[in-house]
This record gives sequence, C-alpha cells and structure tokens, in this order.
Amino acid sequence: MAEQLTGKKILLGVTGSIAAYKAAELVRRLQDVGAEVRVVMTAAACEFITPLTLQTLSGHPVALTLLDADEESAMGHITLARWADWFLIAPATADTLSRLVQGRSDDLLTAIHLASEARLVCAPAMNNKMWSHVATQENLTSLRSRGAVILGPASGDQACGEQGEGRLLEPVDIVTALAESVVPAVWAGKRVLITAGPTHEPIDPVRFIGNRSSGKMGFAVAQAAAEAGAEVMLIAGPVGLDTPTGVNRHNVGTAAQMYAAVMQQLTMMGSRDIFISVAAVADYRAETVAPHKMKKSAQQGITLPLVSTQDIVAAVAALSTNRPYVVGFAAETEKVADYAQEKLKRKGLDMIAANEVGAELGFASDDNALQVFWETGSQEVPRGPKLTVARSLITIIMGQINADSTS
Ligand code: C5P
Repeated sequence: MAEQLTGKKILLGVTGSIAAYKAAELVRRLQDVGAEVRVVMTAAACEFITPLTLQTLSGHPVALTLLDADEESAMGHITLARWADWFLIAPATADTLSRLVQGRSDDLLTAIHLASEARLVCAPAMNNKMWSHVATQENLTSLRSRGAVILGPASGDQACGEQGEGRLLEPVDIVTALAESVVPAVWAGKRVLITAGPTHEPIDPVRFIGNRSSGKMGFAVAQAAAEAGAEVMLIAGPVGLDTPTGVNRHNVGTAAQMYAAVMQQLTMMGSRDIFISVAAVADYRAETVAPHKMKKSAQQGITLPLVSTQDIVAAVAALSTNRPYVVGFAAETEKVADYAQEKLKRKGLDMIAANEVGAELGFASDDNALQVFWETGSQEVPRGPKLTVARSLITIIMGQINADSTS
C-alpha cells in the first residue's frame, strides 16, 4: 500500500506542538517509501525542534519565513506551493486548523496553503479538551468539506499530563493512513455528470414543496469522482454546501430546471461517460403557481392540484444517442432491495444504489450504507462516512463499466 507514495512530492508543514519532535521520524518514514520531502515550519515549531534537524534529514533547506529574500530566491513560496502533490501538516495545532479555515496568509505555512492546489492532509495534535471543543470540531468539518483529509488523532497519555484524544498519530501510522487515502486516478479522462440535493417546487412566491435531502451524498459522489481524476459537472438543487475542489457546479431550483440543465449538458456540451442521479427530485409539482401569496381562506382546507414532473434519470437512460452509463439512487424506507431492483428495470438504468432512509441513516446524516444492484449482480457498501461510501461506489461503477466493455 505504501508504494502509492513512491515519487510523490510531499511538503511537510510542522507547527508548534510538543509533537513536533515526531516530524523528524516522519521525514524518514516518508523517505523510506520513496516520497520526496521538503519541510516548512512555523515560528512556533522552531521552539520545539530546530530547522537544522529537519534540513539534515530532508536534505533541503527548511522554509521558514515569508518575507526573506534569500529563501525566496532559493525556492520561493509559490514555487514550493506548486511543487507539492500533497501538503501534509503534522503536527497540526488547533490554532493552525483555525487559521487554515480562515484562509489566513500572514505566515509562510498559511500563505502556501492558499497558493497551493496540493491535496491538504492534517494530522492534528493538541490537548483533548481543545480537540473536543466545538470550535475545533467545526473547523475540521469545514476543512473536510473543502476536501482536506484529517488523519487521527490518537488517544492516550498527553504531554500535558491528561489522558484522551488529541495525540499525534505515530509517524508510521501517518504514512500508512496517507497511502490509504491516495485515490488511484481510475476515472482520469472520464466526463461525469451528477445531480444532487432536493428540488423545490413553488406553490406561490413564498411556499414550495420540498424534501429532506441535504445533498451531502451527491456532493460526496462528486468529490470522489473528482478525486479519481474525472471531469465533474454537478447540477445541484437548493443546498447550503460548498462545492468540492475541482468540481464544476450549476445550481437549479425546480425539477424542470434540473431536467433542462441535465439535458443541456448531455446534448449541447459534448458527451458524458457517466451520469449519476443522486438528487431527490420532486415527483410532483403544483399544476399552477399562484402569482401572489395565497391567502388563508375561511374554509377548512384547500386542495392543491399536482402534476407529475419529468423523470430525469429515466429520460437520460432512454437517450438514443450519446447515452452515458446511467446510475440511479433509490432512497427507501422499507423493502429496499425489492423496490430498488424494480426501479432499475422500470427506468432502464445500468445500476442503482439503494439506501434505507430513516431514523439514523440517509438524508441529513453524515453516514450512509448502500446496496448496489445491476442487471447481473449486486454489492453491499457497509456503513461509513458518505465520502468513503462514495469512493466505494466509484470503484463499483468502474468495475461494472470495465466488465461490460470486455463481455
Ligand atoms: O422513483 P424515485 O424518485 O424513487 O427514483 C429515484 C431515482 O430517480 C434517483 O436516481 C433520482 O435522482 C431519480 N429521479 C429523477 N427524476 C425524477 C424523480 C427521480 O431523475 N423526477
């Protein structure tokens, strides 16, 4: 597994934690698996370990300051930012995480973060109370939603004398975890179209028919596809989520707008290899939308005539030219496998990913589990974070596309 790191250019960011002494060992372990390592340190890190130690081990001068003419003429911060495949910050203090979230650039390490397209990986180290503080946890959520990978922390004795979560992972474990999170570029060159989120069908200017979809699963699928090297266009319903790194996004409100955006992408923007329909598209819309806010009447209730929306995924599956490989989703509250297989056939899909939605999983949850079906087989994806589940789905889709093309 660790051979995935061979030849990778890893910029190691060291920040001011007592665990900074482990950075010396980490440089060695990364070199053991064939990675090229350069080091940037914050001023606080230099209080714990000398730059000379890391310079000697890495074989290169350690980058320390932003406004130093000599350093800039050696390998300036922009060159360093471009050089890196991965920006691994280990140890990452609570303060560093918060400064990354804010997009600060008042020291070399944070300026490189802003200037670099390298994948960000943080191995946090801090006191357990600082780790569990809501501010730190919100910072982690924010970094993860931007595509950063967080490794650890471990639990146990802390330098401050307390016990708990917040210890830097051991260098050898950081290297293993890093290698595991390298996603092979199995979708390099693929053009992928994805829908995500709910649709909102207006009733009048202030009311709509909607559903509980958070868009998290669709956004995770878009992120996983982009990580795997695909060129991704995401058609998103109304959700409050950040666009994953490297993903193109087009926002829509209604099912009709989503249909139009999908068809425009498939018919006017060149062909797509794969269409993954994760959106929870409304099945019905109000027959007419009232031009002004509807007034409460004296009567007991109202009847709202509804008409069916267009089934987007079925329409894509029925395309006679430029038809992509079509993957649908099925959120069910019961008889998941039966309903999903019926939908696979009725809508003419190549694959369907079914999940049970209810008390714990689905919609707003950060976790999911899937049962994936295609005409001749099926596979389960066990419960896990939506991004992990999405990465497994990408592997399953690729496996089936390859199997279909060789059969
Ligand atoms: O029929 P049901 O809504 O359960 O099917 C779910 C699948 O169909 C999902 O892939 C969803 O994105 C897609 N769908 C669609 N257009 C609709 C309704 C559902 O693309 N109008």
